[in-house]
Amino acid sequence: MNAPTSHPTIAPPLWLLAELTYRCPLHCPFCYNPVDYANDRTELTTEQWFDVMRQARRLGAAQLGFSGGEPLLRDDLEDLVGEGRRLGFYTNLITSGIGLTESRLARMKALGLDHIQLSFQDSTRALNDFLSSTKTFDLKARVARLIKQYDYPMVLNVVLHRFNLDHVERIIDMALDMGVDYLELANTQYYGWALVNRDQLMPTREQVARAESVVNACRARIGSRMRILFVVPDYFEAQPKACMNGWGGVFLGIAPDGTALPCHAARTLPGIDFPNVRTTTVKAIWYDSAAFNRYRGDAWMKDPCRTCDDKAKDFGGCRCQAYAMTGDAANADPVCAKSARHGDVQTIVLHAQRAQQGAPDDAVGRPAQPIVFRSDVNSLK
Ligand code: FES
Repeated sequence: MNAPTSHPTIAPPLWLLAELTYRCPLHCPFCYNPVDYANDRTELTTEQWFDVMRQARRLGAAQLGFSGGEPLLRDDLEDLVGEGRRLGFYTNLITSGIGLTESRLARMKALGLDHIQLSFQDSTRALNDFLSSTKTFDLKARVARLIKQYDYPMVLNVVLHRFNLDHVERIIDMALDMGVDYLELANTQYYGWALVNRDQLMPTREQVARAESVVNACRARIGSRMRILFVVPDYFEAQPKACMNGWGGVFLGIAPDGTALPCHAARTLPGIDFPNVRTTTVKAIWYDSAAFNRYRGDAWMKDPCRTCDDKAKDFGGCRCQAYAMTGDAANADPVCAKSARHGDVQTIVLHAQRAQQGAPDDAVGRPAQPIVFRSDVNSLK
């Protein structure tokens, strides 16, 4: 699987993320799916996904993620897993667990599915079920046991925010009880629905610091029994993340309707015509499309990124965050302390905390202020 030699300066895509559907039984207010996802219900067919996978594999892609929405809502998921494995991909299912019956899991295991990442919303039933707007805590616990039973490495993802950051030790203990091998504690990043709910979800600086020290203490207590990744929220950092390892660097996302995206949030950027696999080959999309070339290299950069020593490491941060906060995706990500707009990030954090004042949470940690759940599209109008 060699990359074409006609594009010597562009590395091939390594990671193909197949967002099979935006449909989801859960309604999480921090979902990274587009807030207008309900406007487009067209989804690629099984054959079209097969074709995308073959093309991406030919270009050199090695890792294939199935996500959504909830990928288990596609009843051809097993076929897609089987084809992915047949093509030689390392295959990864990213799921809420809803719909993962034993027979489906057994089938995917037999087909060679390599890896499953299960999400929980919290260690308590009350908050898990509140945040997902479903009664799914017990079901997820059953799915976690099934995943262990089928001998998968247990990978658990919990999105953190102000409502569950103080539960972090209980979340870690829950993961230990489940036999989790790898726990990803991912603080909310503010895209999609999380951006809509930013004032609601934003933790305090003290909460984040407290949670981080709890995590460090737990790591010392647990040792090598379970690995814990704690991702600090961007808004509390002074250095930007190397988002997606650079625009058009390694990541090729395909939305349910076939739109090819260099990152999950790219469609929020105006003035970019994202190509679609229905009409353009994956090779042309990756190497030749204006969309994927838009923020490659550093010719697009302005100061401070253009002259920054770290530009090859962090690529100026996140284009989507730069756009969301400054109105220009070519600006430095304001998370960066060198950005002239860095003060805006602190202002946003303070604003969120002021908005939360006088609105105490109830006994189970549920917010008194209204949250916009993923299904509440009407409330966005
Ligand atoms: Fe789009 Fe970071 S999410 S570049």
